[in-house]
Amino acid sequence: MIDFLGGPGILSPRTTLGSDISLFMAMGFISMFLFAGYLARNKKGLAHHRMILASMVMMVLYLAYYAQVRYMGLASLSDQMKYMGGSDFYNTVLHPLLMAHLVVVSISLYLSVYMVINGFMARFPLDDGSLTLKTGFAKPSKVLWGIGLAWFAFLVWMTTLSGRLSSSHTVIFLVLGFGVPAGVALLIHFALPKADRRHRIVGRVCLMFFGLMLATTTTTYYLLYIAKY
Ligand code: HEM
Repeated sequence: MIDFLGGPGILSPRTTLGSDISLFMAMGFISMFLFAGYLARNKKGLAHHRMILASMVMMVLYLAYYAQVRYMGLASLSDQMKYMGGSDFYNTVLHPLLMAHLVVVSISLYLSVYMVINGFMARFPLDDGSLTLKTGFAKPSKVLWGIGLAWFAFLVWMTTLSGRLSSSHTVIFLVLGFGVPAGVALLIHFALPKADRRHRIVGRVCLMFFGLMLATTTTTYYLLYIAKY
């Protein structure tokens, strides 16, 4: 398997088949999310809901593939492929782009989980079998806060177990991993109390981040592995 995935890529002599597949999968699931947004815009609530679930499955498959490929050591293989640009270009363009990509990916992942739970809470089935959104005030989601607290416990367990972080780094890690997302969820709770408005507005923001994720993913890949310098 490692021989196959580590073989020459399709997109450029500097890519591996494994890294090309990873790019295609990422482009696939992001496009599926964007298409689900298009369905919602056209008032096709049920089709939108199904497409979102299919996109989530694809995203989880992608994450599993990515983790597996890294575990097999393919990353070190592609890391060995030389980056061809100069160090000025790396410092001024590529490094900030990579950081922006990381931030965009983290926010998109968080928002997608939030939105799926929110979608289930806000949906309203109609008699003809179609789906629309509830119009009243949204109730706080016990599931969302339950997942949040389990996540917090997991982060605390991880930092204690690793024992490698200083106490100030532990605090930064917990604030970024739990404090900021929980703060954003509280902010959304008070700023957008109506269920349908909340789903539409946060949903649009989420799709905007997916658009940014597509742009940063493809640009980073292009600059790292395809562009000729
Ligand atoms: C990542 C997850 C999701 C995102 C980003 C998202 C995004 C959106 C957006 C942007 C709209 C409004 C479209 C517009 O009027 O411009 C919308 C509407 C809607 N969403 Fe979602 N959504 C997500 C998950 C879900 C889920 C899981 C469900 C159902 C369980 C759902 C059900 C609906 C329904 C019923 C509508 C109303 C469609 C209509 O106006 O007829 N959504 N969604």
